[in-house]
Amino acid sequence: MTQDELKRAVARAAIEHVPMGGIIGVGTGSTANFFIEALAKIRQRFDGAVASSEATAQKLAAAGIEVVDANSVIELEVYVDGADEVNRALAMIKGGGGALTREKIVAALSRTFVCIADGSKLVDVLGRFPLPVEVIPMARSYVARELVKLGGQPEWRQGVVTDNGNAILDVYNLEITNPAELEAAVDQITGVVTNGLFARRGADILLLGTPEGVQTLKR
Ligand code: 5RP
Repeated sequence: MTQDELKRAVARAAIEHVPMGGIIGVGTGSTANFFIEALAKIRQRFDGAVASSEATAQKLAAAGIEVVDANSVIELEVYVDGADEVNRALAMIKGGGGALTREKIVAALSRTFVCIADGSKLVDVLGRFPLPVEVIPMARSYVARELVKLGGQPEWRQGVVTDNGNAILDVYNLEITNPAELEAAVDQITGVVTNGLFARRGADILLLGTPEGVQTLKR
């Protein structure tokens, strides 16, 4: 099976987590895009969606799904999104697509986070995928120096401006044995908006695409 077939399979499997009625959260990236395709077919089942990026908002609207402002919801029953890496405790690295801050906001609003990922995303130790950090542009160099002190090698993702008007640093060479601790430490650096570790609020359910079928892991 190709990687895209595995992504499509987990995206379809996530449909069973979409409640009758209410507003859901929808993530960003190629796996989330397959989920939006599947969602379009059942759009009568729910009332609308909060998008984790402008790109996802456009795709939802094009699929005929109402896009809802995050400020007008108190809680989302479910949030479905991909990941760049996920471990067996369901902590993740996200933000390869640069949407990490809005993804974290949608995750915070959600009762259940369903991560959809092909099998290549499952790792024992997070950190081979560079950790994205969204920074206020004028703090970019300062934050990069602080990230070096934490043991990483930050690289500016040149030419990328996030939906929030900020810059992204991708931090290489981190071996993240304590994701929750590093998540907090990076967030403490002045000028950091968010980092792509989702450990303090990780996924609740992982739908993992393998050639043998979709496996479900729970926290
Ligand atoms: C975007 C993300 C995505 O979930 C992550 O990059 C995975 O993307 P894909 O589904 O294309 O592999 O965090 O910011």
